[in-house]
Amino acid sequence: MGPKMLHLSSITTISIFFYMFVLHVVDGTYGPEAEGPTTAESSDLDELQLSPAPSPRIVYVDDYRARADDAGDHTERASAGNLQALYFRRCTHLVVEGLRIRDSMQMHVAIAYSWKVHVSRLLIAAPAWSPNTDGIHVSNSREVLISDCIISTGDDCISIVTGSMFVQATGIFCGPGHGISIGSLGANKSWAHVSDVLVERATLVGTTNGVRIKTWQGGGGFAERITFQDISMHNVTNPVIIDQNYCDSKSPCHEQGSAVAINNIRYRNIRGTSSSRLAISFVCSNSVHCDGIVMQDVSLVGEGTYVSCYYMNARVLELGYNFPYCRAEM
Ligand SMILES: *[C@@H]1O[C@H](CO)[C@@H](O)[C@H](O)[C@H]1NC(C)=O
Ligand SMILES: *[C@@H]1O[C@H](CO)[C@@H](O)[C@H](O)[C@H]1NC(C)=O
Repeated sequence: MGPKMLHLSSITTISIFFYMFVLHVVDGTYGPEAEGPTTAESSDLDELQLSPAPSPRIVYVDDYRARADDAGDHTERASAGNLQALYFRRCTHLVVEGLRIRDSMQMHVAIAYSWKVHVSRLLIAAPAWSPNTDGIHVSNSREVLISDCIISTGDDCISIVTGSMFVQATGIFCGPGHGISIGSLGANKSWAHVSDVLVERATLVGTTNGVRIKTWQGGGGFAERITFQDISMHNVTNPVIIDQNYCDSKSPCHEQGSAVAINNIRYRNIRGTSSSRLAISFVCSNSVHCDGIVMQDVSLVGEGTYVSCYYMNARVLELGYNFPYCRAEM
C-alpha cells in the first residue's frame, strides 16, 4: 500500500496501528471462503475475530503527512478523483484504530474487497448538510468488525453494500447523519448480496434514519440474516425502516418486476423516540415480499406524538413487548 492509496489530507491523527499483509489474489477473488455461521445469531457472529497476522506491517499515517484542511487541499484531491479520506482495497488482517477524520469530500473510510478487518475507535465528523459523506462504507468484504466509533456526518454513519458478509458493528454512536444502512442494493438492475450482519449497541441521536435496509426496484439477489439489537434512538425521523422501493434518482423509478429479496431480519431490544409519526416502516415490493421479519422488544414512542407502524408486502412476527405493533400480514 503506497502513498497513492492513502489520501489523508483531511485527517488529524491520534495514532494508527494498522498492520496488514497484502493478500495474494487473482483479480476478482478476495481470500479464502469465510468459514462460519449461517445465521446472524449473535453467538455465531462473536466468532468474528482477527486471526493473528504474521509479520505485521505497520504504517504510520503521519508519514503520509496527514493533516487538517488547508486551502489547496480540496482542489488537489478533487482533480485527482480521490474523494474518500481513507480507502482500503484488497487488504487482509487490516486494523484501523484510533483516528480522527474530519470533513472528507465524500466517504470518510471505505473498505473494499477486504477480509478480516477491524476498524475501531474512530471519531468521524462532518456537517449534517454535507452530501455523500458516509462515515464507514463496507463493500465486497468479509469478516469486518467495526467497534467503538463516534460518527457525525451528512450521510450514512455506516453503510454496508453488496458483497459484504459477516459484518459486525458494535458500540456505534451516530448523529447527526442518515443512520446505519444496509444498501442501497440493486441499483440499475444489478445483483446484490449482503448477509450475516449484526449491528448492536448503537446509539442514534437526531438522525434521519435509525436502522435501514434500502434496495432499488429491478435488482436481484438478497439481503438476509441481518440483526439489529440493543439500539437506542433519540429523536430519529425513521427509526426502523425497510424500503424495497428505494429511489434516489432525479427521474422517477417505475415499478419493476424484480427486487433484491429481504429475508430473516431481526430487530431486538430497540428503544427510544421517533421525531415522526411513523416509527416503523416496512415498504416491500409487490414482486418479492419481505419475509421473516422478527420484532422482539422494540419500543418506540413519539416526541409528543402518537407513533405507528406501516408495512406492505411484509411478513412480520412479533415477539415480546413491541410498540408500535405491526400486525402480522399474509
Ligand atoms: C445507474 O446508471 C446510470 C447510467 O449509467 C449512472 O449514471 C448511475 O450513477 C447509476 N446509478 C447507480 C446508483 O449506480
Ligand atoms: C427532533 O428532530 C427534529 C428534526 O428531525 C427537530 O426539528 C427537533 O428540534 C428535534 N427535537 C429535539 C428535542 O431535539
